[in-house]
Amino acid sequence: MKALLLENVHPLATEILTAAGIEVETRTGALDEAELIDALQGVSLLGIRSKTDVRAPALLGCPDLVAVGAFCIGTNQIDLATATAQGTAVFNAPYSNTRSVVELAVANIIALARRLTDRNAALHAGVWDKSASGSHEIRGRKLGIVGYGNIGSQLSVIAEMLGMQVFYYDTEEKLALGNARRCSSLDELLDQVEALTLHVDGRAGNAGIFGPEQFARMRPRSLFLNLSRGFVVDYEALRDALVSGHVAGAAVDVFPHEPRNRGDAFTSPLVGLPNTILTPHVGGSTEEAQEDIGRFVAGKLRDYALHGTTTLSVNLPTLAPGDVAHAQRVAHVHHNTPGVLAQLNHVLAEHDINVDAQVLATRGSLGYVVTDTDSPLSGAVLGDLGTLPDTVRLRVID
Ligand SMILES: NC(=O)c1ccc[n+]([C@@H]2O[C@H](COP(=O)([O-])OP(=O)(O)OC[C@H]3O[C@@H](n4cnc5c(N)ncnc54)[C@H](O)[C@@H]3O)[C@@H](O)[C@H]2O)c1
Repeated sequence: MKALLLENVHPLATEILTAAGIEVETRTGALDEAELIDALQGVSLLGIRSKTDVRAPALLGCPDLVAVGAFCIGTNQIDLATATAQGTAVFNAPYSNTRSVVELAVANIIALARRLTDRNAALHAGVWDKSASGSHEIRGRKLGIVGYGNIGSQLSVIAEMLGMQVFYYDTEEKLALGNARRCSSLDELLDQVEALTLHVDGRAGNAGIFGPEQFARMRPRSLFLNLSRGFVVDYEALRDALVSGHVAGAAVDVFPHEPRNRGDAFTSPLVGLPNTILTPHVGGSTEEAQEDIGRFVAGKLRDYALHGTTTLSVNLPTLAPGDVAHAQRVAHVHHNTPGVLAQLNHVLAEHDINVDAQVLATRGSLGYVVTDTDSPLSGAVLGDLGTLPDTVRLRVID
């Protein structure tokens, strides 16, 4: 089996796949569609980051490709509908940079509370501005977290360890960690806290959820952070709140329109404001996160290749069938319609093949069944399984 890893995926990925007996070819850059199709002939596993588009022509034109690993968080660069229709598994690393975002949020809260931005700027300008005025410890201060998911809840634990009192609001029922207190509305949260940080997801309904009304409702001289999604906040309103002094400081890592490439020009109504930390969407960008992404996604590709495991796949039904302990394993992705399992087992029975173990899962339009048999499957059996009317993809795992 062969894997192609593009875009400087972390070297750990090569180590993991090679150790599993998979031949790995690496390339530093992204490939365009024609180059990709050419490079993927004979390749079963593809690893990319955000700059390689994997669209229908590549998915349909590379019959050996069984899985795509996005060594990043998002999967927008992959045509998921076609991958699903083809039974091509897609994996990503949704949680590898959680800790990195949390640490940046903590750093920002402390930096804003101590007005490190102003002190730093003054000293670089040659001014010795030694003063305690407007500078605070975070111990005992009230932190409000909007969105108590992976990042919000981990931040909750670490903020408490630093002595903050944590309040949170989430649209879902979320279990409070430590001594954190759940608020039943955003307004209830805004009424109490002195620093507010957004960690909501990118669903369309979250566009503009934080605007003039919400800034006005914040307690005077509060701190504001957004490390979630740019389109969630009205930054003109944040600018007004910072200029008037109602908001004492802000840290923003995400913007509605972000430059595509490193070195590109950047504009925002927040540029040049006092006690405002602007970072270029680097919340999750650490070497540790990159390493974790390399380990996580390579592990997913390996486990799918060797065992048929689809745990945390973006698009296939979830199965974890374990090691192949029997003569042969066959993984069958099919349309999720009644009777497919019966047809599959009928073919096996007709060829006098005994089933040792079998697991099935379904998800949306797809079903996925992994069958271990007590004897190897001949070409005739595989031919019959492959031509069942609802077969999407058939893969033999030795
Ligand atoms: N700055 C970065 O570099 C960086 C890195 C990673 C993730 N992120 C972003 O951080 C955000 C959080 O990531 P996560 O992994 O914790 O996501 P998550 O899906 O685990 O958590 C999001 C939480 O927000 C809640 N939520 C959604 N809409 C809400 C609303 N309007 N009000 C209150 N709660 C709401 C959800 O119920 C969920 O609990 C995402 O938008 C993600 O894209 C940014």
